[in-house]
Amino acid sequence: MAVFKRKLAMSYGGHTNPLVWLAAIICTIFAIAVIIIGIIVFIGYVVIHPRVPIISVTSAHLDLLRNDYAGLLQTQLSIVVTASNGNAKAHAQFSEITFSLSFQGQGIAVLVADSFDVPKNSSNNLRYVVQSSPIPLTPEQMDEVDASRKRNEISFDFKGAARTRWRIGPFGSVKYSCHLNCHLKFRPSNGSYIPSKCSSKSK
Ligand SMILES: *[C@@H]1O[C@H](CO)[C@@H](O)[C@H](O)[C@H]1NC(C)=O
Ligand SMILES: *[C@@H]1O[C@H](CO)[C@@H](O)[C@H](O)[C@H]1NC(C)=O
Repeated sequence: MAVFKRKLAMSYGGHTNPLVWLAAIICTIFAIAVIIIGIIVFIGYVVIHPRVPIISVTSAHLDLLRNDYAGLLQTQLSIVVTASNGNAKAHAQFSEITFSLSFQGQGIAVLVADSFDVPKNSSNNLRYVVQSSPIPLTPEQMDEVDASRKRNEISFDFKGAARTRWRIGPFGSVKYSCHLNCHLKFRPSNGSYIPSKCSSKSK
């Protein structure tokens, strides 16, 4: 208690070191600079109104689904992945694009694409025709194919990721990674795609 009181008295009575003043001034200038930069970036965002580029499956078709008694599955799917850039004022670049298609945990194919640019307020379609080599199924997976035929609905897992980058005026570029993780469902009877939301959520 006594020590505390003495220190308090000293700080009131003593002269403030000029270095402390200097540090306080520098801190104030720094804080103001941070606020101004923050305001500029905020205005930039409001003016340019960036929208995160997204990848989504926009259409698909099950072209072939054949399984034999030996448990080999052969399939072909057409999948259209759309890369959209909703920004009215910035080009977006998509890169490191990889998708994987699987059935009941069994990998069917890995789909990739080269980097490409999508102009302002525009989109680009990636069309894939995926033909599987005969896939050996386990008895459980064969049962699943039969059950899918009976209820006329079969589901494939489609996962993927891409990196996107777009320029925001003079403030540099913003990078995002998008991820897709969905079930693509089809009617085995005619191969039609059962549309569902299959879109990336950027983070
Ligand atoms: C963006 O594209 C849509 C149609 O695709 C159009 O209606 C809209 O006006 C465009 N916006 C700008 C800012 O170009
Ligand atoms: C495919 O079959 C489903 C149900 O069996 C039906 O609802 C759908 O309209 C068919 N699609 C086409 C393109 O024939």
